[in-house]
Amino acid sequence: MTIAEDVGETEAARTFAIHQLGWVDELRHFKEMTVNYCDAAMRSHTDHGEVLRTRLPTPVLEFVHPRHMRRVLKTNVLNYPKSEDYVALRPLLGDGIFVSEGETWTRQRRLLAPEFRVGATPRYLPVIVRGVEAFLAEHWEPAVGGPPRDIGHDMMRLTLWVIGDAIFADDFRQHADAIGRTLEVSLEQATTRMIFGGLPPVWLPTPGNLRGRAAQRELDAIVAGMIAGARAATRPSDRDIISRLVQARDAEGRPALDERELTDQVKSLILAGHETTSLVLTWALYLLASHPAVLERLVDEVTAVLGDRAPGPDDVPRLVYTRMVLSEVMRLYPPVPVVTRRAVADDEFDGVRVAAGEKVGLFIYVTHRLPEFWSQPEAFDPERFAPERAGAIDPFAYLPFLRGRRECLGEHFALLEGVVALAMLVGRYRLVREDEGPIRTRPISTLRLARPLRMRVERRRPGSAP
Ligand code: HEM
Repeated sequence: MTIAEDVGETEAARTFAIHQLGWVDELRHFKEMTVNYCDAAMRSHTDHGEVLRTRLPTPVLEFVHPRHMRRVLKTNVLNYPKSEDYVALRPLLGDGIFVSEGETWTRQRRLLAPEFRVGATPRYLPVIVRGVEAFLAEHWEPAVGGPPRDIGHDMMRLTLWVIGDAIFADDFRQHADAIGRTLEVSLEQATTRMIFGGLPPVWLPTPGNLRGRAAQRELDAIVAGMIAGARAATRPSDRDIISRLVQARDAEGRPALDERELTDQVKSLILAGHETTSLVLTWALYLLASHPAVLERLVDEVTAVLGDRAPGPDDVPRLVYTRMVLSEVMRLYPPVPVVTRRAVADDEFDGVRVAAGEKVGLFIYVTHRLPEFWSQPEAFDPERFAPERAGAIDPFAYLPFLRGRRECLGEHFALLEGVVALAMLVGRYRLVREDEGPIRTRPISTLRLARPLRMRVERRRPGSAP
């Protein structure tokens, strides 16, 4: 899919008013935010306009319009580093690429970028196919005809295996369950601190903090052990990301990353690289269950392109509709629904004044549903992303991977994984929901499902093993 060239800077001038909520609306907004901040932001922006200044729990200037996304993420990006919300992730990710800033970030991004640029991703196709095949053989094939499964849980395991295999080749899967569990516990603690403005402080021995610390120690030990294994490999190899990072050297010939930095990067990649993709797949299967015409067209494409085969390099570009479906899923359910930044200096654009030190929230979830940019925004319609139409989409109206210098490092990897996994799952299996009811969102730092999506697994062609 190609989105329109960014012509934003040449657009005609416009002026926006900042709406400051009165205290009654403010309290209602705050109450709604604590329940579901995506729904709360949708409502406030629909009622009051594109730019909103809220005060609770801490003051935030909320942006949703593509012009403002462009300003913060691109044209004045150096004025808007990540906010202190990300500090909550430091006990877990150290100074890894997801949270680092300045010179450290530049060095890390330069080192990791070659692993994920578009030309490098084909090397991951066999890893992804192997991961999906292994997952299906171990979990779905034995479940055919059995009780419903928690699909979100399944997709989390699948994407964890894939990113783990890409980093560590075949040494990962034996540790996958422990890594998944320790990451989940650590992340839970970090998210609590993010939501409650840094509380409880990490040094306080609350039961949650103690659990979090124990999980982080266990996670660090497992990752360090796996890195040591890669170092000890008798012959240098470049078969996976860890081997290449271990061998990377700086200009003076010294190891580019020390032990601590290696562990932090590996944890950052595993964290950033599996939950987001698993949520896209889960929301996709949820939406497809209630849109039979879309599902039918998707299965037709997969059958025509792949038959019973797993996807090869020539097949992926031909899975055009599969890609359109994923793009539309990420419009309705962007896995990262909001990001926050902190203004370094005063800024002014479109009549909007941002003060130095002010926190800025970019509500991607709302941007993806603005009627000015998306007709019938609540409708699930993959046609929006048909190659001949996608060229008309404003790049800053569609931001599942963000844009600008801090955009997602793994976009091409994630899209390849999404297309391959979705094609293999729906091409081979028919999934039947346990109940029909709608599932609401539960935004934490990612856009989770408010309750499990439970589905029974059946073979698409009765009697055929995949
Ligand atoms: C559909 C799946 C994915 C989505 C929607 C997604 C989305 C995002 C978003 C929105 C950010 C910016 C976060 C912020 O600034 O607060 C981000 C950053 C990042 N993502 Fe992804 N991501 C996905 C998959 C992946 C994968 C598979 C990997 C790695 C293999 C990855 C690695 C990263 C890294 C390392 C960063 C930090 C980049 C930096 O700060 O320089 N992501 N991602």
